Amino acid sequence: MNKTGRVDFIIIIFLVIVITLLHYFTPFDKWGFHEFYRRLYYIPIILSAFRFRLKGGIITAVAVSTLYAPHLLLYWGSLNIDILNQFLEIVLFITVGLITGFLVEKRDNQQKLLKHQIIKLTELENYTNNILNSIVNGVIAVDNDGKITSFNEGALNLFNFNRNDVKGQPIEEVFEHDRIKKWINKVLATDEVLREETKIKQIPVKLHIYPLKTPERKTKGVVLVCEDLAEIKELEEQVRRAERLSAVGEFASGVAHEIRNPLAIIKTVSETLKDEAKRNNEIKEAINIINEEIDRADTVIKELLDFARPHKARKENFILNDLLKELMLLTRKYAKQHEVVIQADIPKKQINVYGDPEKIKQALINVILNGIQAMPRGGILDINLKLQGNEVIINIKDTGVGIDEEHKEKIFNPFFTTKDEGTGLGLTITYKIIEEHGGKIQVKSQKREGSLFIITLPIRSEKGLENSGG
Ligand SMILES: Nc1ncnc2c1ncn2[C@@H]1O[C@H](COP(=O)(O)OP(=O)(O)OP(=O)(O)O)[C@@H](O)[C@H]1O
Ligand SMILES: [Mg+2]
Repeated sequence: MNKTGRVDFIIIIFLVIVITLLHYFTPFDKWGFHEFYRRLYYIPIILSAFRFRLKGGIITAVAVSTLYAPHLLLYWGSLNIDILNQFLEIVLFITVGLITGFLVEKRDNQQKLLKHQIIKLTELENYTNNILNSIVNGVIAVDNDGKITSFNEGALNLFNFNRNDVKGQPIEEVFEHDRIKKWINKVLATDEVLREETKIKQIPVKLHIYPLKTPERKTKGVVLVCEDLAEIKELEEQVRRAERLSAVGEFASGVAHEIRNPLAIIKTVSETLKDEAKRNNEIKEAINIINEEIDRADTVIKELLDFARPHKARKENFILNDLLKELMLLTRKYAKQHEVVIQADIPKKQINVYGDPEKIKQALINVILNGIQAMPRGGILDINLKLQGNEVIINIKDTGVGIDEEHKEKIFNPFFTTKDEGTGLGLTITYKIIEEHGGKIQVKSQKREGSLFIITLPIRSEKGLENSGG
């Protein structure tokens, strides 16, 4: 029994004793007083039933009856008609104690049950929330008016949403998407699941829209499951690119090989002609042009053959920091001519890479030259190295013209160029080299703001260094 229970217990006993004493000390001819006292007994009985439920009600009712009964004997024989009423009152005491106790007990049990159910429901809610939040897909519930009622962590992460900007907001505004409302209405009208591939906030997603039902089978809105397609699309693109590269490579090497022989013959013949035509300036000039053009064609062909020939890379351990410093020296003059300042942040900590340093150099030069060429009125080319787990990330960022949205997926294609003098092979070669080294290259660009090329290469662990013996 707790403290308030004890106080109530004392009050109940006190009341019973006081009322009983009043009975015994009031002369028995004061009939009206006795009537009044007798009814007072209901107070401790009801109080006890409320406080201590069925047990309390019964015990107090029995106690009161036992205390009251001897008092009745005092009247025995004198007031025969009322005596019966008074015995009835005892029955009533017990009945009231019983019924009140029973009702209170029932109420308490119901409350207990309710509490238990609330706990169970909360547990269930936490459980479902945990499940929802452990799903990487975005899950968003929307009511019949298209307002967002709930969402999981996956949805916030996928679209980079802020929790407070989402809750209760219209879905078409949050998604900035004009067809979403139409799709939701269609699901609400047909009661059927709808699947659509689309882009939301630039992110390619597959949407699964399910009708949301109450237990009474009434439609309460929809649930949107948003599947992130970015990675899949990127992989698909990589596969397509690789296929294109190998097809082009094969074709190009065939053509290049065939052209090289006649070119060599033409060159020999033109050299002979040059000697013959020593006195005729006009012919000499023409032959010079022929020779220059042959050289130019030869360079392109050499590049093509380099690209296509499955040559064995001379792989070794090299220090990337030193390679980048060498690159700075190589490109400094070219940058200066274009009024470009190269800012490099190369960490002191030695970064070891296993690969063909000449190829990596070529890959990086292509990106650096592109960056410089993208800034016709000068600017800043920012190069930095960052270690991340087993990889090194090389960021090459320019403040140039940027890349058109529709060009972004073409820049690695062979012969794609927007430059008058370009061959469109630079990034194709870079892509191939990086891929051969187990790395990857990504681009982020904003029109008129500049481009960022992110190159990731695996690095050698200390253990790998020991084993390689290089
Ligand atoms: N940093 C950059 N900023 C803007 N556009 C770029 C950048 N890098 C590449 N591009 C675009 O991608 C195209 C392809 O680049 P790539 O290096 O493959 O060929 P190119 O530079 O045109 O010719 P090449 O490198 O063979 O001389 C470029 O023509 C240009 O439109
Ligand atoms: Mg280039």
